[in-house]
Formats: sequence, structure tokens, C-alpha cells
Amino acid sequence: MPHRVEHIFRIVQDAIAAAEAERSEENDRDFIRPVDWPVQCTVGPGLEGAIACETKIGYVNGRRGRLVYRGFDVFDLCLHSTFEEVSYLLLHGVLPTQAEFEAFNSKLKEYRHLPHTLRLIMGFPLEQMNPMAALRMGTNLMRQYQTQRDLEDLPAKGRVISSDDDSIASSDAVGATKAVFEFADRNVNRPAPAKAESDLQEAHGIESCYHLIAGMGTLAAAIYRLRIGRLPIEPDPDLSHAANLLYMLTGRRPTPVEEHIMDIALILHADHGMNASTFAAMVVASTLSDFYFSIGAGVAALNGPLHGGANEAVLHTLEEIGSPDNVETWYARARQEKRKVMGFGHRVYKVYDPRARILGPLADYLVAESPDGQVQELFATAKRLETCVIEDLGASKGIFPNVDFYSGIVYRCMGIPAELFTPIFAVARVAGWSARVLEYMKHNRIFRPRAAYVGGFDREYIPVSER
Ligand code: SDX
Repeated sequence: MPHRVEHIFRIVQDAIAAAEAERSEENDRDFIRPVDWPVQCTVGPGLEGAIACETKIGYVNGRRGRLVYRGFDVFDLCLHSTFEEVSYLLLHGVLPTQAEFEAFNSKLKEYRHLPHTLRLIMGFPLEQMNPMAALRMGTNLMRQYQTQRDLEDLPAKGRVISSDDDSIASSDAVGATKAVFEFADRNVNRPAPAKAESDLQEAHGIESCYHLIAGMGTLAAAIYRLRIGRLPIEPDPDLSHAANLLYMLTGRRPTPVEEHIMDIALILHADHGMNASTFAAMVVASTLSDFYFSIGAGVAALNGPLHGGANEAVLHTLEEIGSPDNVETWYARARQEKRKVMGFGHRVYKVYDPRARILGPLADYLVAESPDGQVQELFATAKRLETCVIEDLGASKGIFPNVDFYSGIVYRCMGIPAELFTPIFAVARVAGWSARVLEYMKHNRIFRPRAAYVGGFDREYIPVSER
């Protein structure tokens, strides 16, 4: 289990007290109820407001600034749990007993070793690749085994699902009243499949989740080292997930403080409602594809600067501003150019992101301990920028720091280069992606929203010679 460091515990405790003091008193139970399909929603562009499914995995309250995993406030999990235990909780819905945790942890230790995958990935020019592109490729290479789905015909097809056509946006969509829920169900008049030689050949099962949760950190660290001309480092079975990630990246066993802070950062990034990368992973899984492709889709979506790529973009912004004294001038120009300030704003949170509530004070602590004058300047610039943006857009537009605003400074203080910030986000989020794909597949229905057609009709074909 990772080390728990008393003064880090106190910093998190104080941050939580400050956050909870500002939380409104509303009762979250008033905001939830089972969905009575088909459900009426007001849906904006980008499916804003659309309800895609029910879930018990995670809850985000954007008005109260609250994040819950399986009924546990993420603040409590940061204080008392570990990323390994939170991964188990997200996947299985309960905190593990000691025996369950030991069994799970021994799987993670086993699956953290990816000798075949790393040998394959070394054959690629990783130094010429975007690290997230390499990570996505790595998740596919992890799917080494021909899975049963490759070796046999696809699961029997359910009856065609009534897909709402792209014509008039009307309420006559056939919706779930006639939907056929397709399952990766093998008991549909087909011979039982040959027993998979290994658990991992069931590429749509829980073992794939364990494999990907365990291996994502090994992949990210190996890709980083290979890109700088170093060889990958084997995971150390005696280290926790967070400590192994830092060890495999830097070659140095982390201090208890670094391990504790990394563990908290992984917990904070593990799951977050129906965000773009989680939705991408679920869409791929809903076609009865398999986990490795689904997680690869999550990695691809997370890469964008409007999503997981913002943490790296924040550091570039702070470097572009240069110093606290330049903030006001920079910000005025950014507003004039209608630029979005990276690390601020959120589709759901219209108050301070609870994750930034924890990461900010941790960044403050690490910067104060850091001999790196540049990171101290970056942090002072960040604090000034935060004040500036909140004064201008906080009350009027609900624009506050989000999870990405301070995470980069935390990672920078631990010697992690900016190009690794988003891969590390994926190292944590693979737990949420896996849990939500697993949950959705229990009542799978292929995602197939509508696009309201506004084009023309009956156009006459003109041969190219006459155009
Ligand atoms: C993550 O979904 C998740 O949960 C994601 C995530 C997770 O854990 O998975 O939380 C992780 O992706 C966090 C967000 C990281 N991205 C950034 O920091 C990039 C900067 N942020 C923005 O791009 C934006 O805030 C979004 C994309 C995050 C959310 O945008 P929305 O909800 O689509 O809001 P919008 O673009 O419709 O903006 C509404 C208004 C606009 O002003 P008006 O046109 O009404 O005048 O708010 C303004 C926007 O211009 N606005 C911003 C702003 N974000 C929104 N103005 C300046 N800076 C910003 N960052």
C-alpha cells in the first residue's frame, strides 16, 4: 500500500474543509432518480443535456462542486483510499475485503509486466510520434491474443435495432420502447466456444480491465523513456501503482511525499461522468467490439486540448505569460481574441472543480519545497491568472479552475515532462473507462443518435464534362 504522509493528509484535509465550507446545503438525493425510458431531455449541440444511460459508477454535481465514485465522496477517497482500491471500487461497486484486495493487487502486479507489448512497441519510431498516439497504439498491441471474437463468428446478432432516422426532429423516435438490448450473449443456439486458453483471451471481460488498468502506467513510462533514448524499466513488485509509475518514468524510487501525491492525483482523475473520452470508449464497446479498442478510443478522445490535453496546454499558457506581472495584459488580449483560457471552465462545473480544490494546495506545497525557481514563477503566475479569470468570469459565467489547471504544476514539481501530463491522465482514467464500459455492456444498446438533416433533395446529376 502506498505510504500515507501525515502533512500531505493535513493539506488535503484543510483543502476539503475549505471546499465543503463553500458547498451549498442541497441534498444530492434530490437531483437523482431512475430513468423512465424513453426519457424527454432538452438536448443541445454535442449532446449537451442528453441522458445516454443510467449509472451507479459516478456522480458529478456541477452546482455544488461535488464528485462521487460509487457513493463515496472523492474527498473521502483522497483522504483514506488508494488508486488501486478506488479502481476496484469503480469496477466492482464495493470496497474490497483484505483478501479481495490482495487478489486484485496481485493481478495488477502480474499485468503491470508487458514484455511482449514493449518488445512490439520498440519497433515503432516513438520519438516521432505524439505520446498519446503511441499510448493508443500500445493499448492495441496489448491485445496480443487472438480473442475468441477474432477466432469465431461474431455473437449472434440481435434483431436489428430500430434506429431513429435522420429526418424531422420529432418525438416519434421509436426509442427504447422497441429497442433490442444486444448482449455479448453466447447462449443463443450456438455451440459453446472453445475455452479461452487464458483469461486475457476474453477480450471483453474483467481480466481485460485489470490488464489495461495495470498496464497503462507501464506503457506510458516505457513510451516516455524510449522517446528519450532510454530503455524501459521493469515495474517493481514491492511498489504501489503510483510509486511504480514514477519509478518506471524516472528510474528513481519516489519519496513517500511524491508517492502519496501521485496516488491522490490518480484517484482524482479516475472517473468523471459522461465526459467525452468515457463516452467514446462506451460507443466503441456498444458495437460489441472489445475492451482494447474501446480504451484506445478513450485515449484518442482524451488527447484533445479541450479535454485531457488541457493540462499540458495550461503549462504552455503560463510559460507564454512569463510572469505574474504580465497576467493582466495577457488576459485582456486573450479576452479580446476570444481565446479560451486553458484549465478554466467546465461543461458541468459552474463552481470551483473539487479536484482543483485538492490539486491547488498540493501544487502550493510542492512549489514551496521546490528549488526550481522557474516553477515558483509559474505557480505565482497561475495564482494571479486564477484571480483574474474568477474576477471576470466566475460569477458571470461560472468559469473557475478545472482539474487541469494545477495538475501540470504538480507533475512538473515531480520531474514529469509536460508531454506526459495527458498520458498520466489516461493512466488514471482507464479505471473509469473500464468500469463504465463494463456497466454499460450489461444492458448494451449500440449508440446511434440522430443528425437532423438540413441539406437539399432531388438535385440533378451533371456530368463532370459539363461542370
Ligand atoms: C476536462 O467533461 C469532463 O468531465 C471533462 C473532465 C474529465 O474529468 O473528464 O473534467 C476533464 O476535460 C476538463 C476541461 C479541460 N479543458 C480546458 O480547460 C479547456 C478550456 N475550457 C473550455 O474549452 C471549456 O470550458 C470546456 C470545453 C471545458 C467546456 O466548454 P462548454 O461547456 O462547451 O462551454 P462553452 O464553450 O459553451 O462556453 C460557454 C461560455 C462561452 O462564452 P460565450 O460564448 O457565452 O460568451 O463560456 C466561455 C465561452 O467562451 N468559456 C470560456 C472558457 N470556457 C468557457 N471563456 C474563457 N476561457 C475558458 N476556458
